[in-house]
Amino acid sequence: MMWRYADGKLALDRAGDWISTELAERRNLVMYNSVGDNDYNTVKTIICAYQMIKPGEYAKSHRHTPNALRLMLDGGAGVYTVVNGVKLPMIAGDVLLTPNWCWHSHYNEGKENGYWIDFLDVPLVHLLEPMFFEQDHGKPQPVTEEPLKHDFWFPYASTQQELARAKPDAQGVRSITLSTPVFKTIELRFHHLAAGKATRKRRTTASSVFACTAGEGTVRAGNERLEFARGDVIAMPAWTPFAIEARNDAVLFECTDEILLRNIDLLREEDLA
Ligand SMILES: [Fe+2]
Repeated sequence: MMWRYADGKLALDRAGDWISTELAERRNLVMYNSVGDNDYNTVKTIICAYQMIKPGEYAKSHRHTPNALRLMLDGGAGVYTVVNGVKLPMIAGDVLLTPNWCWHSHYNEGKENGYWIDFLDVPLVHLLEPMFFEQDHGKPQPVTEEPLKHDFWFPYASTQQELARAKPDAQGVRSITLSTPVFKTIELRFHHLAAGKATRKRRTTASSVFACTAGEGTVRAGNERLEFARGDVIAMPAWTPFAIEARNDAVLFECTDEILLRNIDLLREEDLA
């Protein structure tokens, strides 16, 4: 399954005409994967959604046991998230973590709509059942810190510098893994593919979701051939043979449950011809 940012953005803009953050705590559009026996998830362990916040809006503070993170897509200055009192800016390409049981709320004090992609391990927590959720009943979180660096914030400018420094693999693909020791269930990576480069064809027992942050390309997955552009999201269920090829300079964000599979000795990977 693939979801196009252009479709998501249009739907959220329409929703923005009707639904306020007062009515809906979060204005988000869930990427339900209708292939197979899924009931609401994007892949077996992860759910994704596009989310939009309009200028002047405030998405109330809450906390939950599922781990969550955001990949910022678009928005002017003034869009930010507060995590346990820490104010973290949201600039296009930035990744922000809101780990298990951390209070989080979102704000837009700018002039343009803010759009991002949410990733959560909700389906896994749902399966195992330790699901807890708490609201702060509308009280804004007091901001106690506005750091220039934080373990829960990965600015895109730093990501791009690290990608440029990363040693390319045999296929010429540069990859980095974000340092997220607070997450035990999901692992985050960025991949840079120069024009014409392709990943090796492989399959793994890990389930992943890819989101494009720059460029365009093609994903071949099973019998599908999917053309992606910036902001599009691709579900890669476990054991699907796949390869990604860049048409022009492309960057992909990957959210995978590989760390979980590895830690319970269920990770298997195969290179395919
Ligand atoms: Fe949340």
